[in-house]
Amino acid sequence: SYLGIDFGTSGLRALLVDEDGAPLASAEKHYAARHPHPGWSEQDPADWIAAIDAALDDLARKTPDFADVRGIGVSGHMHGAVLLDAQGKVLRPCILWNDTRSSAQAARLDGLEGMRETSGNIVFPGFTAPKLEWVRTHEPELFDRTAKVLLPAAYVNFYLTGHYVADMSDASGTSWLDVQARDWSDELLTMGGMRRDQMPDLAEGTEPVGQLREALAQRWGLSGKVVVAAGAGDNAAAACGIGAIAEGQGFVSLGTSGVLLGAREGCHPRPDAGLHTFCHAVPGRWVQAGVTLSATDSVNWLSRITGQSPAQMTGALGDVLRPPGQPCFLPYLSGERTPHNDAHIRASLTGLSMATGPEELTQAVLEGVAFSLRDALQSLKAAGAGFETLFAIGGGAASHYWLALIATVLDIPLAKPEGGEFGAALGAARLGQSAASGGDPLALMTPPKIGQIFAPERSLTAAFDTAYEKYRATYPAIKSVQ
Ligand code: XUL
Repeated sequence: SYLGIDFGTSGLRALLVDEDGAPLASAEKHYAARHPHPGWSEQDPADWIAAIDAALDDLARKTPDFADVRGIGVSGHMHGAVLLDAQGKVLRPCILWNDTRSSAQAARLDGLEGMRETSGNIVFPGFTAPKLEWVRTHEPELFDRTAKVLLPAAYVNFYLTGHYVADMSDASGTSWLDVQARDWSDELLTMGGMRRDQMPDLAEGTEPVGQLREALAQRWGLSGKVVVAAGAGDNAAAACGIGAIAEGQGFVSLGTSGVLLGAREGCHPRPDAGLHTFCHAVPGRWVQAGVTLSATDSVNWLSRITGQSPAQMTGALGDVLRPPGQPCFLPYLSGERTPHNDAHIRASLTGLSMATGPEELTQAVLEGVAFSLRDALQSLKAAGAGFETLFAIGGGAASHYWLALIATVLDIPLAKPEGGEFGAALGAARLGQSAASGGDPLALMTPPKIGQIFAPERSLTAAFDTAYEKYRATYPAIKSVQ
């Protein structure tokens, strides 16, 4: 059997699968983030380790199959900085991806010549390099003692094996990696005031980091040799789980934020279009994504105001797609990444009339998020990507009205997986299996069975094209008065 650990911002899920990726058992544990100042977001790596120990203790207790684990893969929340001293001791809490304290440092690094060209990405405030700039200024004695900087998943790899190894996909979110060359960049490290010896070794996500430490293997009653894979950042792991490996394969994820991600067979960075271009967790491939920051968050915001649950709100629209409504919603409640890279813009709702009621507001919010995903699609198209269909995943995919709307706005059919496992935990387990078996990863990373297809409603295409033009024109107008 193989184990995938999907290690996220609020908790982790450990999934045990058989040779064919069929689920055998799972366990979940949660941990908190601390916000000691506005905009700060930190976690104690010791809490992750306690959660992993507890989850694997559970699995070892309840599942005989656990004793046969051959490979482990870890998917982590990206961009976080775990600082270690020369003895491998954690120096301070991990500064997480959603911590915005280093936005000034990010803007400075982003403006340096060669930064975007080599890293392939905008230096977003959540990325790792600006966090180290912040530590250098505000905690200089800790900065001086920093012997290694590990991403969250690399820290878990270190705990499991005793080796310092990060995978290429996660390392892509640091602003220290040359994403085309798949190597740390001396030029970028110098710009960020860092040294190569402070970085972990790099490996492809499918490659082994080493063996599970003997003490842990004994604790969990694991009989044979257990290989730990380099693993992945959460987006690349999700791509492995849903089988997005080849050009033209991708997904729309409707979570707190919305992601439109495509697998790429070449590296085609477009930081100017607000895209993330990261190495894939499989060799010789990349993932490219547009991100809208408030997807289900926008629906949850309206739900709080109206006192109706998201399911009630979207259910009230029925099953038949309506033509675009008059009100126009820009879903920038927390700023926006793609395409605007604008942390300061805020949401807007225009075109209200006496006829606007709760249903029209729900429709506007769903349409605004759909249009922001069309912005992400336009950016991906500008980078040469194209899709015949996309998988739809995440909590928001429960609304079939929303899926029909997004399919129509993108003019791409959306496929909803039948159910079962297809997320980052499965992707991580597949990476563990690749590393342990040495087999062809592409043969393992197959798409799930399709449950339902949502086709574009072609009779409404022209009307939604016009509404999208109005949406596009609203951002510069709103920006000018905010
Ligand atoms: C990617 C990103 C998220 C985080 C949190 O750029 O910020 O995927 O890893 O999930």
